[in-house]
Amino acid sequence: MALRIQSVPLDFHPGNLSLRRARLSDLGEIHQLISYWAARGRMLVRSEALLAETIRDFFVLEDQLAPGEDRLAGVVGLHLLGPDLGEVRGLAVHPEYQRRGLGRWLVLACEREARDLALPSLFAWTYEQRFFEACGFERIDKSHLHPRVWSECQRCPFFENCQEIPMRKVVAPGD
Ligand SMILES: CC(C)(COP(=O)(O)OP(=O)(O)OC[C@H]1O[C@@H](n2cnc3c(N)ncnc32)[C@H](O)[C@@H]1OP(=O)(O)O)[C@@H](O)C(=O)NCCC(=O)NCCS
Repeated sequence: MALRIQSVPLDFHPGNLSLRRARLSDLGEIHQLISYWAARGRMLVRSEALLAETIRDFFVLEDQLAPGEDRLAGVVGLHLLGPDLGEVRGLAVHPEYQRRGLGRWLVLACEREARDLALPSLFAWTYEQRFFEACGFERIDKSHLHPRVWSECQRCPFFENCQEIPMRKVVAPGD
C-alpha cells in the first residue's frame, strides 16, 4: 500500500493502519522496535523506564492485522526542548513496513502537533539525512545548535564520536 500523504489528520485510517497517541500498554512494543534499530546502530537505545516517563510525547501507527490483533508499525516522539524548539525523537518504522510513507506520516504527525502548540521549529538528530530532507528538513551546522539539543547526548555511547546529523525544519503556522 502506497501512503504518499502530504497532510494527514490524526484520525486518518488508510487500510488497516491508524495513527494515535501512544499508551502505556504500547511500551513493550515501542521498546522492542526502537531496540531493533538501536542494535543495528541506526538510533539511540531507550529504556522502557525512560519511554514511560515520556510516553505522552509519542505517537504510534498501529496495523490491525485481524480483529483484536494489532501490530506496532511505527513510532515517533515529539519532545519539547523549550518554547521555540521541539525534537523529533524515537522515530522508527517496523522493518516490514519500510519505504511505504509511514516515516513521513509520523513526522507529519509531529508537525501537526507543533502547529497545534504554536511551536515554530523542529529539530532532529539522525543518520537518515535523505529521509529528513524528503520531509522538508535541512542540515544545520553543529556549531549553531541550541544547547538544549545536547540533552540526550550524555547517555549516548557515541558521545565522544558522534556521527549523527543535526537537522531542522521551520514549521509554518497554519500550513
Ligand atoms: C528512517 C525511517 C524512519 C524512514 O521511514 P520510511 O517509512 O521507510 O520512509 P518513507 O517511506 O516515509 O520515506 C519518505 C521519503 O524519504 C525517502 N527515504 C526514506 N528512507 C530513506 C533513506 N534511507 N535514504 C534516502 N531516502 C530515504 C523515501 O524515498 C521518501 O522519499 P520520496 O517521498 O521523495 O519518495 C525508517 O527507515 C526507519 O525506521 N529506519 C530505522 C530507524 C531510524 O533510522 N530512525 C531515524 C532516527 S532519527
